[in-house]
Amino acid sequence: MREIIVHEPGGPEVFQVEQAPMVGPNEGEMCIQMTYSGINYTSVEKRRGNYHGVVMDWSPPYQAGLEGVGTITEINGRLEGWSTGERVGMIKFQGGTWSDQATADFSEAIHGTNCFFNPQSAELVFKIPDGISDKKAAAIPVSFLTAYGILKPIGEIEPSDTVLVHSAAGGVGNAATQIATWSNATVIGIASNEDKIAFATRMGADHTINYATNSITTEIDDICDDTVGIDIALESIGGRTFKQTLAVMNESGSIITYGVSSGTPGIVTTPDLIFSGVSIHGFHLLLALLNEKTRTSIMDGITTMFEMVERDTYHVEIDEVFDMTDVSSAHEYLESRNSIGNIVMAINP
Ligand SMILES: NC(=O)c1ccc[n+]([C@@H]2O[C@H](COP(=O)([O-])OP(=O)(O)OC[C@H]3O[C@@H](n4cnc5c(N)ncnc54)[C@H](OP(=O)(O)O)[C@@H]3O)[C@@H](O)[C@H]2O)c1
Repeated sequence: MREIIVHEPGGPEVFQVEQAPMVGPNEGEMCIQMTYSGINYTSVEKRRGNYHGVVMDWSPPYQAGLEGVGTITEINGRLEGWSTGERVGMIKFQGGTWSDQATADFSEAIHGTNCFFNPQSAELVFKIPDGISDKKAAAIPVSFLTAYGILKPIGEIEPSDTVLVHSAAGGVGNAATQIATWSNATVIGIASNEDKIAFATRMGADHTINYATNSITTEIDDICDDTVGIDIALESIGGRTFKQTLAVMNESGSIITYGVSSGTPGIVTTPDLIFSGVSIHGFHLLLALLNEKTRTSIMDGITTMFEMVERDTYHVEIDEVFDMTDVSSAHEYLESRNSIGNIVMAINP
């Protein structure tokens, strides 16, 4: 079988498509023949060895690929309610979905509706409803569940909230725009060009700011009438943008920081918090699944995600599909900052 391996941190060229023997599942595991996989910005940071602005030693070589979908080919052990031939999606936090075949360990799993999460192996596996294609199902789980976890169990979003979404045309950003719109909140979407702005508007943003041509703080002061400010901000950029975000929050607002796409972490001092009254929360999807307080809500979010897609209340925008052998081009495209919505890898379409 083919799998994508990273031997050392670096540019998009470090990905190697290699052959590995196909092995059957061990006791307590299932094998999944992969069809499509999502390609997230997280994989860019991991490939560079600078994950959320922190230098990380991922002990290469490692298998790449955070999420993907396919068909169960073999189950070794008793797993009530699951059978071979079923279409499933998975998030494999330790990597390995960019492969012809992936395994999932259900031996220590915590079960939810049509899904299970194994804290030991850091794997979330879920069934895909008949009406949703593998390609669509592969595009969104990490983006959707990250946005859902931030806005629901952490942000406790209310219809009266004004929500600021950075990178509103990106993977997590467009999911957050749609979930906040569906929650009847007021959404301000920020992006770097007019195509992205038009897309954020189509996804439901009530107001948009093209930060390449306009000042974020001036525009938000205008939108919020100088006084009200932002209740919830999803912050994934870091650096200077983090400071600008802090400046537009109201005194009971919450910034939820979940990424450092700029590569430079945001810096906050305790007086920043004392004099603003703002709360800052961190969010990481794996930690939120490991945490009993947030896990159930996020696992329930899988059902919500597929229901919203089936009812067309959630739009899945697939910008580009790249063949598995063209993974380097996929990463060049993500790094160009021209992608809109989600991009997908075809493995065995
Ligand atoms: N904590 C978690 O559990 C979790 C889960 C998923 C993703 N993430 C993180 O969330 C962030 C967004 O992920 P995503 O997959 O949704 O990516 P994305 O938003 O689709 O793509 C990244 C976007 O970041 C913006 N950006 C701003 N400054 C940038 C810079 N200096 N270089 C590159 N991009 C820059 C660009 O949008 P504009 O052109 O509009 O500025 C770019 O399109 C990433 O940092 C990722 O690691 C975290």
